[in-house]
Amino acid sequence: MPISIKTPEEIEGMRVAGRLASEVLDYITPFIKPGVTTGELDRLCHEYMVNVQGTVPAPLNYAPPGYTPYPKAICTSVNDVICHGIPGDKVLKNGDALNIDITVIKDGFHGDTSRMFFVGEPSILARRLSDVTYECMWIGISMVKPGIHLGDIGHAIQQHAEKNGYSVVREFCGHGIGRVFHEEPQVLHYGRPGTHEKLETGMIFTIEPMINAGRREIREMPDGWTIKTKDRSLSAQWEHTVLVTETGYEILTKSAGTPPPPAIVQPKAQAAA
Ligand code: MF3
Ligand code: CO
Ligand code: CO
Repeated sequence: MPISIKTPEEIEGMRVAGRLASEVLDYITPFIKPGVTTGELDRLCHEYMVNVQGTVPAPLNYAPPGYTPYPKAICTSVNDVICHGIPGDKVLKNGDALNIDITVIKDGFHGDTSRMFFVGEPSILARRLSDVTYECMWIGISMVKPGIHLGDIGHAIQQHAEKNGYSVVREFCGHGIGRVFHEEPQVLHYGRPGTHEKLETGMIFTIEPMINAGRREIREMPDGWTIKTKDRSLSAQWEHTVLVTETGYEILTKSAGTPPPPAIVQPKAQAAA
C-alpha cells in the first residue's frame, strides 16, 4: 500500500483533531503535581475529551494484532517507562518525569501528540534527557519537505541522540495517521540517509522519538502494553503530528500551550499577519 496523500478536506479535519489533542495536554498540565495518581490524570483527560471536546480517546480498547485491548484513555509513561504506560494507582512524587501521550478522534480523524512533564523539580539528567529528546523531535520536524527521505530524518535524530550519549529505541516508531490511528509509513528514529520513503506534499505522519539515558534495549511488562528500559535508565519522548507542505511542514498538533521550538532549530518563517 502506498502512503496516502490527504485531500484538502482531510487535512482540515486533521488540523482540528491535532489541535484538540494538543489542548488535552494544555488542560491536564496544572493537575500534574505530587500526590496525584496517573489514574486520576486519565480520568480527568477522558472526561475533558468526551464532555468538553466531543472527542473520542483513540487508545481506549485499541487492540492491534497481538495486543489485548488497551484499557485506558491516555498513556502515562513515568521515569524508566518508555511508552504505553497504563494509568492506574501510581502516585506521582517530586522529581518524577513523565510523558503523557494523547490521541483523540474528531469526526473520524486522529490527532496524536505527547509531551514530557516534571513533577516538582526534575534531576539534571531528567531535564537534559527531555531537552535532548525535544531537540531530536524538532531536528526531524524541521527537515520535513517534499523530496527528502524518511531515512534522512531517522539518521539526523539518531546522530543527535548518540552525540549526547543517549540511545534511540528501535522497536517503536512514528507512523502515518489519518482516519486510521497507525498507517504507513513507519517513521524510524534511526537509520541511513537516502533510505526509506520519499516525502510528498499531503502526507501526514508523526515524529515521536523515544530516547533512553542508558542502553536502547527494552522489556515488556506482563500487562502486555507497558514498555520499560531493560537497564532501568530514564527514557523520554515527545510527539507531534506533521503535514508535508509544498514548502516544508505544518505541525498539526499545536495549541496555546505548545512549547516553542528549541534554540538549535531555525524557526520556520511565519506568514505575515
Ligand atoms: N499514542 C501512541 C502513539 O504515539 C499509541 C498509543 S497506543 C495505546 O502511537 F493503545 F497504547 F494507547
Ligand atoms: Co503516535
Ligand atoms: Co502518541
